[in-house]
Amino acid sequence: MAQRPIINYFLPPRIEFGVGAIKNLGEHVKSFGGKKPLIVTDEGITKAGILAKAIQPLSEAGIDHVIFDAIQPNPTDLSTIEGMEVYLANGCDLVIAVGGGSVMDAAKAIRILATHEPPLEPYYADVGGFERVTSNLSPLICVPTTAGTGSEVSQGAVITDTSHNTTNRARKRAIVTPHNMASLSLLDPELTVGMPPGLTAATGMDAVTHTIEAYVATRYHPIAEGVALQALKILAMNIRQAYHHGDDIEARGQMLMASAMAAFSFQKGLGAVHSLAHQLSTDAPIPHGVANAILLPHVMEFNLPHAVDGYAEIAAALGINTADMTKEEAASVAIDEVRLLNKELGMPEGLGAAGLNRERIPKLAQDAMLDHCYKFNPRPCTETDMRLLFEVAF
Ligand SMILES: [Fe+2]
Repeated sequence: MAQRPIINYFLPPRIEFGVGAIKNLGEHVKSFGGKKPLIVTDEGITKAGILAKAIQPLSEAGIDHVIFDAIQPNPTDLSTIEGMEVYLANGCDLVIAVGGGSVMDAAKAIRILATHEPPLEPYYADVGGFERVTSNLSPLICVPTTAGTGSEVSQGAVITDTSHNTTNRARKRAIVTPHNMASLSLLDPELTVGMPPGLTAATGMDAVTHTIEAYVATRYHPIAEGVALQALKILAMNIRQAYHHGDDIEARGQMLMASAMAAFSFQKGLGAVHSLAHQLSTDAPIPHGVANAILLPHVMEFNLPHAVDGYAEIAAALGINTADMTKEEAASVAIDEVRLLNKELGMPEGLGAAGLNRERIPKLAQDAMLDHCYKFNPRPCTETDMRLLFEVAF
């Protein structure tokens, strides 16, 4: 213990959880002194009638607001600049994100740009952005409408960088800073009830991947390890029910809570699954959660010799009775269970079936090495490993 480097842990600030929590939104905006919030969202949220549920409490509290709903999946740096312009032009003083991971990540970047010199380039983690984002930021309220990314309690914002400054293709890059943490996260299970089964499965498997990668990530973070295992237990107990019976508010609530816990746990680090998956949604129509789900068992297979103890614990958290198994057996069964879960949740069998062009693999493997997540993977990865992992998952 004496030889460990000094460590900093960041805990999420306030989380308000429960059916109907959205009704308190107006009061919360007031408590932060907000007079004109910018609501960042996407058209799907507006059309599904979810945005109306967030606007009603604002109207009831007499709070004027501006809506920016131009966020697309895998949000680009360009859309965040647009959002910043709307924020500044309207004299906004607080940001509310109503949506899934793309919306919340974009909202975090918009909030940074509103008080920091644009463009986003210097604030990305891979060029030392951690040091450049200051606490000079407006309050941020996150209202997740999916259960998976956990952006509402994470320090990260993943943005698709179209500037081609670092590679010759648009590439996902992360802004990671404790200042990215939401000032408040409102977790209302009712907002996730309308999610279709495919999205429930994909976002749920993103959360499952967060717990498994975090648990075996190489950084020292016993708090995160405890949270990861409990989150995985809850996810394993509820993901099938939420997938098959989307209107089960209890299962939806459990998934929402567990996905926030899973995202908190990946402060410990993620792994190769995320470095590989981050290359896919910009080059193929593969959503983040689907990419993770397909890649996860293959990366676990690759990591197995370096993660036997961790995966044995994972097997138990997945609900398997491992009492009569050796650690090696339990670790191996954990991988089988992830495969089974993918099958039951209707995930595509491989990246090819999901829409990846095989010829892109060498370039994607090269770019995966620029992503920071794999640095905490229990087994060190080379570019050749990345290429082979893409191939076996194809
Ligand atoms: Fe993820």
